[in-house]
Amino acid sequence: MLKFSTLELIDLKQLTGNELRKLFLDFFASKDHLIQSSYSLIPENDPSLLLIGAGMAPFKPFFTGKMKPPHTRISTSQKCVRTGDIENVGRTARHHTFFEMLGNFSFGDYFKKEAIAWAWEFLTEKLELPQDKLWITIHTGDDEAFDIWHNDIKIPADRIIRLEENFWEIGPGPCGPCSEIHIDLGEERGCGKPGCAVGCDCDRYLEIWNLVFTQFDRDENGNYTPLAKKNIDTGAGLERIASVLQHKRSNFETDLLYPIIEYAANVAGVTYGQSAKNDVSLKVIADHGRSMTVMIADGVLPSNEGRGYVLRRILRRAVRHARLLGIEKPFLTDIVDVVSRIFAEAYPDISDKKAYLKKVIQLEEERFHTTLTQGIELLNKHIQELTQAGKTTLDGTTAFKLYDTFGFPWELTEEILSEHNMTLDKQGFNQAMTEQRERARAARQDSEEQVVIPDLSDLVTEELSYKPDAETAKVVLLFKAGKIVEEAFDGDEIAVILDVTPFYAEGGGQVGDTGLITGLLGKIEVNNTRKLPDGTIYHIGQVSEGSIKTGETADLTVDFARRRHIARNHTATHLLHAALKQVLGGHVNQAGSSVDDSRLRFDFTHFAPVTAGQLAEVEEIVNDVILNNTSVGIIETTQDVAKEMGAMALFGEKYGEQVRVVMVDSFSKELCGGTHVDVTAEIGLFKIISEAGIGAGMRRIEAVTGYGAHEYLKAQTGLIKEASALLKTRPEEMVTRLEGLNGRVRDLEKEVSALQTKLAKNEVQDLLAAIKDINGVQVVIGQVVAADMENLRATGDMVRDRLQSGVVVLGAVNGDKVNFIAMATADCVKKGIHAGNIIKETAKTAGGGGGGRPDMAQAGGKQPEKIGEALQIAEQIIKTQIK
Ligand code: ALA
Repeated sequence: MLKFSTLELIDLKQLTGNELRKLFLDFFASKDHLIQSSYSLIPENDPSLLLIGAGMAPFKPFFTGKMKPPHTRISTSQKCVRTGDIENVGRTARHHTFFEMLGNFSFGDYFKKEAIAWAWEFLTEKLELPQDKLWITIHTGDDEAFDIWHNDIKIPADRIIRLEENFWEIGPGPCGPCSEIHIDLGEERGCGKPGCAVGCDCDRYLEIWNLVFTQFDRDENGNYTPLAKKNIDTGAGLERIASVLQHKRSNFETDLLYPIIEYAANVAGVTYGQSAKNDVSLKVIADHGRSMTVMIADGVLPSNEGRGYVLRRILRRAVRHARLLGIEKPFLTDIVDVVSRIFAEAYPDISDKKAYLKKVIQLEEERFHTTLTQGIELLNKHIQELTQAGKTTLDGTTAFKLYDTFGFPWELTEEILSEHNMTLDKQGFNQAMTEQRERARAARQDSEEQVVIPDLSDLVTEELSYKPDAETAKVVLLFKAGKIVEEAFDGDEIAVILDVTPFYAEGGGQVGDTGLITGLLGKIEVNNTRKLPDGTIYHIGQVSEGSIKTGETADLTVDFARRRHIARNHTATHLLHAALKQVLGGHVNQAGSSVDDSRLRFDFTHFAPVTAGQLAEVEEIVNDVILNNTSVGIIETTQDVAKEMGAMALFGEKYGEQVRVVMVDSFSKELCGGTHVDVTAEIGLFKIISEAGIGAGMRRIEAVTGYGAHEYLKAQTGLIKEASALLKTRPEEMVTRLEGLNGRVRDLEKEVSALQTKLAKNEVQDLLAAIKDINGVQVVIGQVVAADMENLRATGDMVRDRLQSGVVVLGAVNGDKVNFIAMATADCVKKGIHAGNIIKETAKTAGGGGGGRPDMAQAGGKQPEKIGEALQIAEQIIKTQIK
């Protein structure tokens, strides 16, 4: 027999989810709160969050004081998505990915006293929850909260629990100690373990409200800075409170979720409450069905990255659980109907967008069904093999292949493995993923250069046009890997032809535009724009989200910031051309140019290096025109008129009858189809960064403008600062300081040289003191200090000269090398001495080789540690030579 919990026996106020949401907001409206509708799940200007996961998240700037709130008291019921515990969804009574958080917020207005009193008033007076079932937790050190709960609200001290973990934060941002309100659902709902109490993981004590006393701002590094003003942030789970009031054992049985369970159970032909396993799947479908619908309605599209991936994962988990229930056909689209009914009052936009939501879900579900069928079959085979081999870990490479080749989500692999008590080698998987990313990046760079164009003979090119101000266009054609396709999906590398485009195609030295093509159900990130020989413009890119179809109308967004940088560099290229002609002469002609968003490159004919003075002059002239803020005029005319106007045309370039002339006053007139600034001042600054010869009579100048010039100068200034710090002087005094240092280096070098000579002389003395007599021949053998071979030879010469008759063999170590010389006076040579032969054996001993004349030889070796041994060998050789 089903056991009722204590709380279930008590009559509670009966409220639907909608009524509860309204009651909450009305209550706080009566406490002078501004009621706002839920913010979108997509955070605005907050890169630290993928999705809104708490009521306070959209209000971060109000808490930190960065922005002024429209009112110091606000209350919302906020749509939230959290995926940290996604595996628990369906397995517990209260875990969700999507949920609604009821909250009241104070931005430097009221604090603990009011927040606590109002929470209590709402729960016990408005909802009429039994006071003796409510428990309170506070942060260990929060005596202020204790006093309010105990003295003002009259909660017995033993029902106020101090917990160290009562501190609330969500990544960087506002945070603080908190106080939670829990409801005791009855002993029967608990785990029964000794010590089961508030804070236990079981289902007995349900946290229904969290009051955060927001006093700190946490930065990226985990530092907590006290906020100027104290705030309140509270969060009460709508589904949880509904489950209590509606006497339900889990959130899933409330009217906020149960209709979806009913729908899914109906399609699957199962009954809820009869099999624990089926119930888990039904609950997953209910939760995920709500999440995916709301996420898509808020503008998220399935993709392999960021929130698009969160959506994809949720949607695909729902499909998989449907299959576990035996539903093999696509069925998620109709969940939209159920969800839109549940949220008709709270989020009416869902009903309005139903057709769109269904389309996105249908496409993703169909694609995933194919993936699943293949993937599950393969995975089952791997599982069988593992079982047979007595193994329990699936290697990362195999799992990655499933993911990469078949699009099978790795989380699903992990989940299915865990159902067989197996695990996934996550490290191996990540490794394979990293390697793949590298490969993909390299391939992308290659494919940039090699887009394969399919047969486009059916294309009516007369209907295509380039219009700089076009904002929407029809997708005329899509092609992928050299083939025309009807539709492309996220991740696909494709090319697109539009009926009209504002994207500038690579040409005339200017790079192609980048930007975004946004269709009804997806987006293409355009990373280049090119032209076919007949002038047809095509856009190269990747579907980053959802899908895109031939025939649909899309919004076009050129990356205008980038285009601005390009325009600065392009106009500056014209100015450079004109200035070079002025300074170097009329023979200067453009021989090629390359203009992108970071710099400009200009190749020209000229037969001598450009001097520093000439470069400075060119720079000056160009910057003069920039600062004069001359307007840039563009006219379309005939070639003949352009010629008459004196417009510069490029050598060997073919122009049509109609040409476009870009003019900067009378200073520069050039035939050009590129994009330019409107007035020269937009260029900001022009700075040449290099000049060099690139062939006979051909020079190349590279230059930067605008932000690029600023960055360049910043880097240069940084270098000067660094250098002046090293020189321990101010930048202005660096040159004097360096001159001083150079002088000092020269003096020191002289000093070192003198000392070396002195040292060598001393060494000569020592060597001479140790002359050996071998069969009547004077022999000097020894190790000396000598910076190089030349020095060693000089020492050798000195010794030999002093000997007048004899043999000298010297060695010196230089770092990881060793040098040797051998010398013999003419009379000794006559006696049979051969310096070349001596040195040959000596050097060989120290890992080297060499030889030379009978009277003089030198060689090097690579084993300085063998110098002693080598010199001994020398002595032996000498002995054999004098018989
Ligand atoms: N921001 C707090 C929470 O999410 C209220 O629990």
